[in-house]
Amino acid sequence: MTTNRDFAEIHTLSEIIKIGYDALEENALTFLIGGAESEMTLLRNRQSLDALAFRPRVLREVLDIDMTTTFLGVDQRLPVFLAPIGGLTQMDPGGTLAAVQAGGEFGIMGCISSVAKPDLEEVRAGSDASAMFQIYVRDDDDWLLERLALAEKLNYQAFCITTDTAYNGRHERRLLNGSVVPGQGLGGGLEFQRTLSWDTVDLVRKNTKMPIILKGIATAEDAIMARDHGVDVVYISNHGGRQLDHGAGAIEVLPEVVAAVGADMDVIIDSGFMRGTDIVKAIALGAKSVGIGKLYCFGLSAGGPAAVVRMLELLEVEIKWAMGLLGVTSLDQLDPSYLRAAAPARPAGLTSAHPHIDIPNPTYLNDG
Ligand SMILES: Cc1cc2nc3c(=O)[nH]c(=O)nc-3n(C[C@H](O)[C@H](O)[C@H](O)COP(=O)(O)O)c2cc1C
Repeated sequence: MTTNRDFAEIHTLSEIIKIGYDALEENALTFLIGGAESEMTLLRNRQSLDALAFRPRVLREVLDIDMTTTFLGVDQRLPVFLAPIGGLTQMDPGGTLAAVQAGGEFGIMGCISSVAKPDLEEVRAGSDASAMFQIYVRDDDDWLLERLALAEKLNYQAFCITTDTAYNGRHERRLLNGSVVPGQGLGGGLEFQRTLSWDTVDLVRKNTKMPIILKGIATAEDAIMARDHGVDVVYISNHGGRQLDHGAGAIEVLPEVVAAVGADMDVIIDSGFMRGTDIVKAIALGAKSVGIGKLYCFGLSAGGPAAVVRMLELLEVEIKWAMGLLGVTSLDQLDPSYLRAAAPARPAGLTSAHPHIDIPNPTYLNDG
């Protein structure tokens, strides 16, 4: 990890990504950037964002631009949150606490993962910033309800159940470089993930007043099921392309989900978001907030919370510029009329959204 940088001197996200990339040792890098099998879902996340172009409106006064929103009752400086990431201590020894602190310092929420360190109690002891708690169900109902009660007692903003990990993604990069062994799970307990059903959601709903978020929704049908089972927020995600291969790009799913449940509940999204323009596209299609995963992991690796805060400042600059050039001054003015279909102008890849940095990326399909 590089901590002796003055990140205020850095003016592009690309540079921080590059510093973070260079600071990661090979296994941590492979863990971070890898997707499932052929990495088609991962590539489509990018490709589908690149397949949307803007329809800007001009000659409107755009002197003051309001990028703030309210999510889960908490004021947010940007419509962005830090997605839950297991193994964050590979990017920075501060792990989840570093992420929550960075989010709190900047003014957005993080979501901490149940398989990341430090755990939910230690994060609360170290920071009073608002945060969501994400769970992988790795034990029986009693365990689940005990975690739920703890998250509620610790005043987490929401209980987020990840639903797209019935089988753990087969990360061929990691199998090929030997950093995982075949059949290895993430800390065991995977059979519980495989038995999750809507009954699990009902059990959680019955036992908490906390907002419930379902993460990993990829169809309108499941979004409707979520709403009908009392879920508060639908979280569209394909795990950044780390789970089912040959899925759709996440943003491709957003219109059908917003059409199905957007009038009744908040829809949030992650997977592939690497720039301010990406965020603006999701908001225009009806997302309430957008999660960033790999992007902020590069920041943590580059220089801990300070680098993540700087990244968020730069993301804010990009969002402001995009909104100003689109002719809108608040998030609620954005709608699908600001977008049109377009052919991506370059092949999708890990850093195709940041093409000016020199990152070796030899094994990404389609890349160079
Ligand atoms: C290294 C890594 C670890 C992750 N760990 C978790 C996790 O513990 N729980 C979870 O729900 N999602 C996890 N995810 C998925 C993220 O929450 C998020 O869906 C994904 O990173 C978004 O895609 P992006 O990386 O392209 O932004 C992880 C992603 C990465 C890259």
